[in-house]
Amino acid sequence: NLKHLIDRLHQSHNLSLDEFTELLARRDEELQAYAASLAAETAEKHYGKKVFIRGLIEFTNICKNDCYYCGIRASNRSAQRYRLSEEQILACAQNGYALGFRTFVLQGGEDPYYTDDKICQLVRQLKHNHPDCAVTLSIGEKTRESYAMYRKAGADRYLLRHETATPAHYRHLHPPSMSAENRYECLRTLKELGYQTGAGFMVGSPGQRPEDLARDLLFLGKLQPEMVGIGPFIPAAGTPFAQEPAGTLDETLFLLSLIRLMMPEVLLPATTALGTIDPRGREKGLLAGANVVMPNLSPKSVREKYQLYDNKICTGEEAAECIVCLTKRIESVGRELAVSRGDNIRYLNTK
Ligand code: SAM
Ligand code: FES
Repeated sequence: NLKHLIDRLHQSHNLSLDEFTELLARRDEELQAYAASLAAETAEKHYGKKVFIRGLIEFTNICKNDCYYCGIRASNRSAQRYRLSEEQILACAQNGYALGFRTFVLQGGEDPYYTDDKICQLVRQLKHNHPDCAVTLSIGEKTRESYAMYRKAGADRYLLRHETATPAHYRHLHPPSMSAENRYECLRTLKELGYQTGAGFMVGSPGQRPEDLARDLLFLGKLQPEMVGIGPFIPAAGTPFAQEPAGTLDETLFLLSLIRLMMPEVLLPATTALGTIDPRGREKGLLAGANVVMPNLSPKSVREKYQLYDNKICTGEEAAECIVCLTKRIESVGRELAVSRGDNIRYLNTK
């Protein structure tokens, strides 16, 4: 009977490495449903029925890194590369604002064309055009100086998944040019600089064991990020992991619930990857403790090219169509779409 562990996590927000490992290795349907019901209740206690939306602008798929899992890795010759201009990015945000978005996420590969000056200029423009909006960056590993410059320019939040808290597993997923320690250090720096910070990982990535996931949870508990992004690993054509199996819906849902119980006030998206492995994946994510969705605001013409993994959903829709579709999905599980920045409440209380 593992329910007592879920109860303890619910009450004390903490478990040991062995306890998390046991939960993950011995999960069954009943345990998962129990964790999901407590997690959904916890999300509602802190954020009500609200689901926050983030307008994702995938502004470049050019990347100097070569992560083994990622469809836009540098050595994937079959990826069709693109960059959005500043005007295009600002137009995406304008369109998004009219649709009710109050957070814009600039995400891209680690593209050297976008120098620190260009990023700062973009952030300043976005904040100037939409002073009531939050700007989130998700552009990978940078120096402390660069992160400090973006923050000064007005960036509010930063998403940088730690990918895995097990250094040996990190080496299995990345080329030797990348280091786990640098990734973790970047996250600590982002927190220190006052960003609302998002960490996270893929579920079911090649070589991942239950104890690695347990370590991911402990890592989150220690870092205390304001956001956590998790989604299933999905194989991508043109990568070394193209033939590996995808992560599962159930394991991802269970982890969403554990994260919600461990960090009651965290902002937790039901990700596009979750919607890709199951047609109702995002709705199920909301029922398991998630409270954020991140639809795409990028122009239709480039959407198919930001192909991190195969069969990614929503590549054929306009932003306006996505929001209609998402509103229905959110309402189908008894929740409501919020038109607000959707800051982390604990972060707001400590400022
Ligand atoms: N370059 C930035 C970075 O490294 O943080 C942002 C873009 S990166 C593509 C965003 C996230 O996509 C990664 O952190 C990774 O977890 C996820 N991702 C990449 N390839 C994936 C795959 N095949 N399946 C699921 N998620 C994937
Ligand atoms: Fe660059 Fe993944 S390899 S975004």
